[in-house]
Amino acid sequence: MSETAAIQPPVQVSPLKIGDIVVDPPILQAPMAGFTNYAFRQVVREYGGVGLQATEMVNAKGFLWLDQAECEHPDRLWGVKEEARPLAVQMWDNDPEILAKVGERLANDLDVSVVDINFGCPVKQVTQKAHSGSYLLRFPDRMGQIIERVVEACSPTPVTAKIRLGCSRDSINANEVAQVVEQAGAAALTVHGRTAQDFFKGSADWDRISEIKGYLKQIPLIGNGDLDSAEKVVHAFQNYDVDGVMIARACLGRPWLFQQAHAALQGLPVPPDPTLAEQRTCMLNHYRLVVDRFGEQKGTMLMRKFACCYAQGMYGARAFRSNVANVKNAAEFFQVVEDFFPKTPKPPEGTLPPPHSESSGDRSSC
Ligand SMILES: Cc1cc2nc3c(=O)[nH]c(=O)nc-3n(C[C@H](O)[C@H](O)[C@H](O)COP(=O)(O)O)c2cc1C
Repeated sequence: MSETAAIQPPVQVSPLKIGDIVVDPPILQAPMAGFTNYAFRQVVREYGGVGLQATEMVNAKGFLWLDQAECEHPDRLWGVKEEARPLAVQMWDNDPEILAKVGERLANDLDVSVVDINFGCPVKQVTQKAHSGSYLLRFPDRMGQIIERVVEACSPTPVTAKIRLGCSRDSINANEVAQVVEQAGAAALTVHGRTAQDFFKGSADWDRISEIKGYLKQIPLIGNGDLDSAEKVVHAFQNYDVDGVMIARACLGRPWLFQQAHAALQGLPVPPDPTLAEQRTCMLNHYRLVVDRFGEQKGTMLMRKFACCYAQGMYGARAFRSNVANVKNAAEFFQVVEDFFPKTPKPPEGTLPPPHSESSGDRSSC
């Protein structure tokens, strides 16, 4: 990979600490249900530049149910036991005792670095049906009870909380919630700068995220929302009072984004996106990990959505998406990938727009 010009980093960015865990660089990979499984995390880890990675959120009741039935851990904990550290595992529920039991298992049996509790999920199944995730933002006292119990059960493993600004635009209470989270013993707070009602609409409100810092005494604040380039990561540290940043959607098809952001923070030249051939190798590596775990048929189905993420924003992505949506086995997958991400550049120069030039390049639909 050749190099492009450095972005001037005007602020000194230090590693952040979550309990005794050093997060260096203070750029975190977000938990994303259905996406941030072991295979994805390995691909991100290979590029580097990420200080802490998170699993998908794990349903605490489901975990206990499987445990009692002496079944294997949920698929969402695939790889966690053997994987490199630091690693955060996120769980959700609304019952302090259940969360404490699962937290204790994650901390002691699986030896995870950080136990994170989800207070931000806006999905109906979690909020309306299970009174968990962002639903709990309306009940800071309950959040405090949950965190206290989980902290007690996991000690000395640090416990963190991930929240949104509030349930709705007219009930923003992140400043108050932040204080409750800290007083209950959490070791860090991550804030996605939208409300649950916003879902993913509009822009993340980084002014509000920044304001929360004034309400915290000592735990680190991690800002999250809409960071999709090295420049935006530098901008976040320059302009907002955060100790760390978390990237979600933008890294799904660009696992090298952390490496780029890390370089930018150090004032080093930002590596350009990998070439199409390099992206192809990356995606096939990702595919191999998924198929090794789930077998050819299920693995290929599962990989469809990841493959779409890799192609997003590129010339021909729409055609790629509709082709890859139908692949059923390795041969079909390789063929579609070969057509889109050829080993040797196919088009003679000047006959096609450059990669990443399709105007519908919004990766948020991943
Ligand atoms: C597909 C998908 C799954 C997600 N799953 C989780 C999750 O399991 N736990 C969580 O705390 N947030 C989850 N989120 C929210 C992200 O972690 C993040 O807060 C949000 O996408 C905003 O960051 P971004 O603008 O960088 O994408 C998910 C988001 C997406 C798009």
